[in-house]
Amino acid sequence: MLKVINLTKSYDSRQVLRGITFDAQAGQTVVIMGPSGCGKSTTIRCLNRLTEPDGGKILLNGISVLELNTEQLLKLREKIAFVFQNFNLIEHLTVEENVMLPLIKSDLVRQEIVTRAQQVLEQVQLAERKNDYPANLSGGQKQRVGIARALIIEPNLLLLDEPTASLDPILVKEVLDVIEDLTKTQDQRIVIIVTHQVAFALKVADLILLLDQGQIVEQGHPEEIFSQPQSQLGQKYKQLLDYYRS
Ligand SMILES: Nc1ncnc2c1ncn2[C@@H]1O[C@H](COP(=O)(O)OP(=O)(O)O)[C@@H](O)[C@H]1O
Ligand SMILES: [Mg+2]
Repeated sequence: MLKVINLTKSYDSRQVLRGITFDAQAGQTVVIMGPSGCGKSTTIRCLNRLTEPDGGKILLNGISVLELNTEQLLKLREKIAFVFQNFNLIEHLTVEENVMLPLIKSDLVRQEIVTRAQQVLEQVQLAERKNDYPANLSGGQKQRVGIARALIIEPNLLLLDEPTASLDPILVKEVLDVIEDLTKTQDQRIVIIVTHQVAFALKVADLILLLDQGQIVEQGHPEEIFSQPQSQLGQKYKQLLDYYRS
């Protein structure tokens, strides 16, 4: 389980996280939403210390993440995966090589890594593109490679930061479908997704966090938040959802 307690972060004298607190149980999907600049990326980047928070506590399966030394942190990160908005693929490596990369320095034998790459590429429906280079893929396919590369380490915490924000609207759905599928077919992993896709959030989230100016202004199950929002931000998201449904 994940417990985040009173996380704070400032850049210069500006506080961008002002006490973020939430819990997630094994198997749950958390969706973080909020206006640009409110601290969504900073929040999830703090969870694996890509960004160092100034204060607070993070407990992941009993481990106090902020108290780990470098070596312990690297060990922990072997089971935390991150999917980036802009894919971060390596252009001169094939799809399969990109996917295998996180395990290249592991103790696994090569055949095991190849087998796992095959499995995760099937999961994102790209097995037949394994010998292609990123330049020959659509944005949606590139991001599905990004997701396969995250899955290959069999993470117990999967972090996705606006995974569809760089895609043409028409390509968004194929990526959201893959993410929806993976949230439904695992039972122990915690998945945390930053996204502006309200209808998607409603489908996959066990918990939604609405962030505004570095604070959680509302959190709860999507049915709760989108039917009876208490915050102004929640009301805006509800209007957006009503608009899509009308
Ligand atoms: N490395 C950084 N240095 C200075 N300011 C930053 C840095 N990263 C983020 N910020 C600022 O922190 C605030 C929150 O950023 P971010 O977490 O990226 O927001 P979001 O992901 O919600 O759009 C923004 O005002 C942003 O400009
Ligand atoms: Mg962001």
